[in-house]
Amino acid sequence: MTVTSPLLGSPSAAWTDARLLYALEEVVERELNRHLKVAKDWMPHEYVPWSDGRNFPGLFEDGESWEKGQSKVTEIGRTALVVNLLTEDNLPSYHHEIATLFGRNGAWGTWVHRWTAEEGRHGIVMRDYLLASRAVDPDKLEQFRMSHMSEGFESDNAHSMLHSIAYVAFQELATRISHRNTGHQSGDPVCDRMLARIATDENLHMVFYRNLLKAAFELAPDLTMRAVRDVVVEFRMPGHGIPGFERAAAQMAIGEVYNLRIHHDDVLQPVLRHLKVLQLDGLGPEGLKAQQELGMFLGGLDAEASKFDEKLAARKSRMAARAAG
Ligand SMILES: [Fe+2]
Ligand SMILES: [Fe+2]
Repeated sequence: MTVTSPLLGSPSAAWTDARLLYALEEVVERELNRHLKVAKDWMPHEYVPWSDGRNFPGLFEDGESWEKGQSKVTEIGRTALVVNLLTEDNLPSYHHEIATLFGRNGAWGTWVHRWTAEEGRHGIVMRDYLLASRAVDPDKLEQFRMSHMSEGFESDNAHSMLHSIAYVAFQELATRISHRNTGHQSGDPVCDRMLARIATDENLHMVFYRNLLKAAFELAPDLTMRAVRDVVVEFRMPGHGIPGFERAAAQMAIGEVYNLRIHHDDVLQPVLRHLKVLQLDGLGPEGLKAQQELGMFLGGLDAEASKFDEKLAARKSRMAARAAG
């Protein structure tokens, strides 16, 4: 069979990244226009409690050193805010990765630049909030940022455009959930409001990539199924290179900002259900195998999440008993 146009549908073997990129361009244009219609412009400075701010020591004579008690933000809120901000801070590396994969021309390029500009707001508003409200040690935050950004970020999926689209569909939702839960656990309504605003942006980013993934399933179902299986099985958060990430991630799991249960129920399942990934039929042998493996993996993850739930519940009742006694 001769493939005359990538849009006519073709066997998986005929698809290359370049062909898919070209075939998806019109979907990108449509989704970009939809995004621009629904995305509301917002001002990061309006979310920051500037009148709480004071000078820090160094160049100002009236500078006041940072201390933990200056902010009402909870311990878990502090940990999660630093992880989430450092993750946002690595934007230059993310821009590099997606500009390399998606290109900087046409509808793809317009999306890459618009997305980057929106993500830039997240780091701006979070840093301004943290410094004005004195929620975290500013010297440590800056040292962490330097070390984190100096490492750069290399995508696990740089080898494949399709894997990258699948990854970001889940990752944008993961970021939304992480910001939202951080707000809920922060103990500060001002922080909660700011993170809810960011979470709304992340949700729209997820919708953009999820709709693109839907189009990829229609064009190349087997390849897309394999990409989804790969990224779900190998998933890790973009902030994994942050200094002390393991420890912070463990605290965020206990603090119910982000854990296996949340990952399974609030991140993986909503995207998979929306796209009916596990119900999709008409797959070839490779796609079918990937779909079955994905189903098995999710079953295992759910069981692991249930074990975590039990441990967390036991920990909570131990703490409640200790507090009561
Ligand atoms: Fe963001
Ligand atoms: Fe985002």
